[in-house]
Amino acid sequence: MADKQSQLNVGGEAFDFPVLEGSTGPDVVDIRKLYGSTGKFTFDPGYKSTASCESALTYIDGAEGILLHRGYPIGQLAEQSSFMEVCYLMLNGELPQQQELDDFSWTISRHTMLHEQLASFYKGFRRDAHPMAIMCGVVGALSAFYHDSTDISDPEHRKISSHRLIAKMPTIAAMAYKFSIGQPFMYPDNSLSYTGNFLRMTFGVPAERYEVVPAVEKAMDRIFILHADHEQNASTSTVRLAGSSGANPFACIAAGIACLWGPAHGGANESALNMLREIGTPDRIPHYIERAKDKNDPFRLMGFGHRVYKNYDPRATVMQKTVREVFEALNVTDPVFETALQLEEMALNDPYFQEKKLFPNVDFYSGVILSAIGFPTTMFTALFALARTVGWVAQWNEMISDPGQVIGRPRQLYTGPTQRDYVPVDQR
Ligand code: ACO
Repeated sequence: MADKQSQLNVGGEAFDFPVLEGSTGPDVVDIRKLYGSTGKFTFDPGYKSTASCESALTYIDGAEGILLHRGYPIGQLAEQSSFMEVCYLMLNGELPQQQELDDFSWTISRHTMLHEQLASFYKGFRRDAHPMAIMCGVVGALSAFYHDSTDISDPEHRKISSHRLIAKMPTIAAMAYKFSIGQPFMYPDNSLSYTGNFLRMTFGVPAERYEVVPAVEKAMDRIFILHADHEQNASTSTVRLAGSSGANPFACIAAGIACLWGPAHGGANESALNMLREIGTPDRIPHYIERAKDKNDPFRLMGFGHRVYKNYDPRATVMQKTVREVFEALNVTDPVFETALQLEEMALNDPYFQEKKLFPNVDFYSGVILSAIGFPTTMFTALFALARTVGWVAQWNEMISDPGQVIGRPRQLYTGPTQRDYVPVDQR
């Protein structure tokens, strides 16, 4: 894999470093021995040019707007696959045979319940707690309830904890919602699909029979597929870094949830819908576009721009189509969708956005759909966390099973005071 070499000139001296080739995408200069050979570190805040790991899960070509999971284009998976099948693919590397898919779905459905004592955990939160605050707490707390699957050196433990996390996340998210509106928790119903079960636990009540609307179930399942994984993004890197110290999987996923919460990452779908609502009508769009372009105004178009995509985010294409399907199925409209379409068109025709290669990302339209289905904005990021759990656990498993895995430990460019002597308080 390292036939090629790259020569770097550091401080006037030439050093050779291996160049590693992946199956596709840019080559990587292997600088693991840079410090040992040259006494110098690299400086790359935000990891704009740094490959932090080797991975066979997800590939993104940001310039072309391509996203592949285990080689399969996201558009094909979103149109033709199911979330359970994508989970199997991410965890096992290949698409399942029918029997394998049935067995996997059955296994996941047998882990959907939470330890009953976890219900008391919810009651300790304020009713107005953000669902992501509850998710961080409850997912971290799973470590205290499932001791039989926290030995990370045991592949069987890793498998069971992965299944538990994927299976329990819908229950945890739905309970966070139910708690916030004061309704009783709904136990899982394993006769339903993964996604149908989640919809029932969220929108059903014990007093009535809940009918899953097939078009909504399909749209929701597709939204889960679109969020399943996305290479080494901030929350996934957080999960990997937490896991690199040997922390248990529940703690690592709680760390990922905390990172996803931020408005520059998973919280952008909530912010995007809030922004579209604030804009309100298409005539106000130019004002907001001017604000986004103004260097002295911190305002950014939420749901626009991406660290990796310098082209249309392929997930946004599917999202936009799904909005229309959900509106048709539920026989609803929302003026916010018209505002979103017009905002997108105006931004894409504006030289500022063209020059900086800023396009809609997955979050631009997802809020419009989720709102039409009935979710409050505060639940959006929780749904993202639910779907991203499979990506997090697949990446975590990949890292832990790598024999060359070491603890993640970046270095720094220190700019603080150099060594000085302590002065007692009465002499300062
Ligand atoms: N609106 C206006 N200007 C923008 C936007 C935006 N949404 N995004 C980037 N820019 C501008 C920046 O001001 C900067 O301009 P400059 O070069 O003149 O300083 C330039 O484009 C590059 O922006 P960076 O922030 O350096 O790009 P980076 O790759 O670090 O950031 C990010 C990517 C954080 C996603 C950014 O585009 C952003 O804040 N977008 C809005 C939030 C959002 O939608 N996040 C969701 C990301 S997808 C996800 O997590 C699922």
